[in-house]
Amino acid sequence: MKGILLHGGHGTRLRPLTHTGPKQLLPIANKPMSEYCINSIKETGAKEIAIIIGGLGANKVKEYYGDGSKFGVKISYIEQDEPRGIAHAINLCKDFIGNEKFIVFLGDNIIQKNIQNFAKKFEESDADALILLCEVDDPSRFGIADIKNDQIVKIIEKPKNPPTNFAVTGIYFLTPVIFKMIKNLKPSWRNELEITDALQILLENKYKIIYDTITDYWKDTGTPEDIIHANGAILNKMEPYFYGTKEDGAKIEGKLMIGKNSIIQKDVEIKGPVIIGENCIIESKTKIGPNISIGNNTLISEVDIAESIIMSDCIIKGKLKIRNSIISKNSTITFTEQYNENERIFLLGEGTKILF
Ligand code: TTP
Repeated sequence: MKGILLHGGHGTRLRPLTHTGPKQLLPIANKPMSEYCINSIKETGAKEIAIIIGGLGANKVKEYYGDGSKFGVKISYIEQDEPRGIAHAINLCKDFIGNEKFIVFLGDNIIQKNIQNFAKKFEESDADALILLCEVDDPSRFGIADIKNDQIVKIIEKPKNPPTNFAVTGIYFLTPVIFKMIKNLKPSWRNELEITDALQILLENKYKIIYDTITDYWKDTGTPEDIIHANGAILNKMEPYFYGTKEDGAKIEGKLMIGKNSIIQKDVEIKGPVIIGENCIIESKTKIGPNISIGNNTLISEVDIAESIIMSDCIIKGKLKIRNSIISKNSTITFTEQYNENERIFLLGEGTKILF
């Protein structure tokens, strides 16, 4: 089996965070979200992965993953000139795939379950595709599978009257027959070659699509709220570690992951799960958590912060209550007024300065 990781796209729903790089490199629990995808792809036994790159910051993807040796896989890069759709991106990998079965992973999909068994089921089957479904509360936001007698009969994009609650996730096991279907695709209303249309053509041509369901965590992290949610879910499953230092009088409750040379000063209150990178200073009177990720070299002082992501090289100072925020690297917030109870939400692109 080979792997394809989609790392292109517009990322418009995540602006301004995506003004300086692809959304799939945004950190969840201090690791780029697409690194979780690479780890999932590795569980299938795939040793070779093609990463689709394109647009702003494509070089950052190459810089981070290199030839893949640090991640235990062989990585090659395929450029997509414009985000012309998921099926378009897959089609660019025709030569890379050759005659093998393969997995396609959208670089903004986060799943916690090990996918080894799904891969085995597909390898051992004579199916032309295996898709992973997940039951959702709001089916009209997703591509939905209509299922009759345990068979997928139709895939419908964002249906007004959803026949089931089973969303098609961004993890597809495919065979090279999909390339023939993509050849006959017409661009959709949003001018993209849609993977759901390619799968629908597979069905109409009597090819066999089987499915399985993800019953635990799956998230398509298209929006800031999704990323904050995924951050909490991943933090909750992490094993605590402590490589920093803590002064007497600091209170720590729940899981804490803290890197080298980071200091928690006295009178700090931490409610896990919280991850703090390396070389951070958490100054006296700060309240952190739950569900907080803090990147390397960041200083936090006096703030009360929960349900948020603060990337590396930031300074966040003042008697502020911050919730549901994503603060990109190299940003500064300093607040000099008296404390007030109001919760503030920040969605800050790289290098933002807010002084008030
Ligand atoms: P989407 O989330 O559907 O699109 P997007 O990333 O452009 O975001 P937005 O809607 O906010 O503008 O894309 C799903 C995944 O597929 C995501 O990881 C990006 C990737 N992708 C490509 O690599 N190439 C493409 O042509 C498209 C459309 C998406």
